Amino acid sequence: MKRSDFPPDFTWGTATSAYQIEGAVAEDGRGLSIWDTFSHTPGKTHGGDTGDVACDHYHRYLEDIALMKELGVNAYRFSVAWPRVLPEGRGRVNEKGLAFYDRLVDALLAQGIAPWVTLYHWDLPQPLEDQGGWPVRETAYAFAEYADLLTRRLGDRVRHWITLNEPWCSAHLGYFTGVHAPGKQNLALAVQASHHLLLAHGLAVPIIRQNALGAQVGIALNLSPGHPASPQPADVAAARRFDGFQNRWYLDPLFGFGYPKDILALYDEVALQVREGDLAVIATPTDFLGVNYYSRAVVQEDSEEPYRFRYVRVGEERTAMDWEVYPEGLLELLVRLWREYRPGAIYITENGAAYLDCTSEDGEIRDSERVRYLQRHLAQCLVALREGVPLRGYFVWSLLDNFEWAEGYSKRFGLVHVDFATQRRRIKQSGRWWQGFLREVVRL
Ligand code: IFM
Repeated sequence: MKRSDFPPDFTWGTATSAYQIEGAVAEDGRGLSIWDTFSHTPGKTHGGDTGDVACDHYHRYLEDIALMKELGVNAYRFSVAWPRVLPEGRGRVNEKGLAFYDRLVDALLAQGIAPWVTLYHWDLPQPLEDQGGWPVRETAYAFAEYADLLTRRLGDRVRHWITLNEPWCSAHLGYFTGVHAPGKQNLALAVQASHHLLLAHGLAVPIIRQNALGAQVGIALNLSPGHPASPQPADVAAARRFDGFQNRWYLDPLFGFGYPKDILALYDEVALQVREGDLAVIATPTDFLGVNYYSRAVVQEDSEEPYRFRYVRVGEERTAMDWEVYPEGLLELLVRLWREYRPGAIYITENGAAYLDCTSEDGEIRDSERVRYLQRHLAQCLVALREGVPLRGYFVWSLLDNFEWAEGYSKRFGLVHVDFATQRRRIKQSGRWWQGFLREVVRL
């Protein structure tokens, strides 16, 4: 497998998000996000880690762009911190925050790296959460205003926009399991939040198009094939429910099919509020679907669980997140997405793995497992392309080791190692491999 096996105009990138790398949380007028509050609440993150400093990217972005240049990527996916540009969530604009993203975009363009901007990667301004957060409809309108502000400012230079990153996580982990900010545990809130996130996406799409003429707009979903733990009909039905809960709940309304009826039936007691016209807004056509793929799910019927399934741990090969390494699932997913939903284009907006990277005596960071993980997933992308899937690009998660949410700094996903005590960056073996692949000197 080599780079030239892929189409010549394929996008090759790395991805990050604002709260995970920027740091500088109290600088230049940035407001608080739900992740500031959550990570500073005792017991919520590994070792009490916070994003206060993270990779200090706010000050070191030029060094980080130089690393991207060295790796040879032609695109960089990052997110904007909403509270950095609108400290109260709506209304007053923080010019210094906008100026940072101006500088970042200009510096990327100067190096020939295309900026891919994600508007929302989980850092809701705290004042909006104080007014109810995503379970409240008004938050969707606040997001549309924020999208307007950002695309007016950067729309002349940014050609690729992603509205939301992984709304399933914002809704489900944020408002149901509570392992992510804002840490609520209420099914009705989570389901309503998911609707308002999708509504926010749909409201933003025409605004982005209007302000960034000719730009490509999409959304990034975390999708996984769901497999039954056994051929028993109960487990097969459980896998179907998993698929509805994780995948179809987002894909179906985005592609104009409305919410899946089997999952709506599970929400009998939730009284989901969907207003007339909402589904049409959510189904506003986009240019591409962003797919964040890490693993599959294997599930079993469990009537005690709210969705009547539970996850079963399978597979010998697992990452430091304890996620099964299952590259075949990426092909299965891509072919299915193309067959069932016909998106205009698909980009892998995240793929990567956390491992316990070892530093060898010569100071090199040996992460051959990550190299193998990436190679095997890319090989599946190639098969998908040969099967006719309109796959147009691939972003490694992540450029840098960073703040892995509830896992804090204990899990490292980077192609580039970060020593969080000194902020020293070192390209890992995987980064060197990626560089070689992009320069086409490494073969499988
Ligand atoms: O680090 C996260 C990212 O923010 C969203 N997708 C999954 C990654 C790894 O957990």
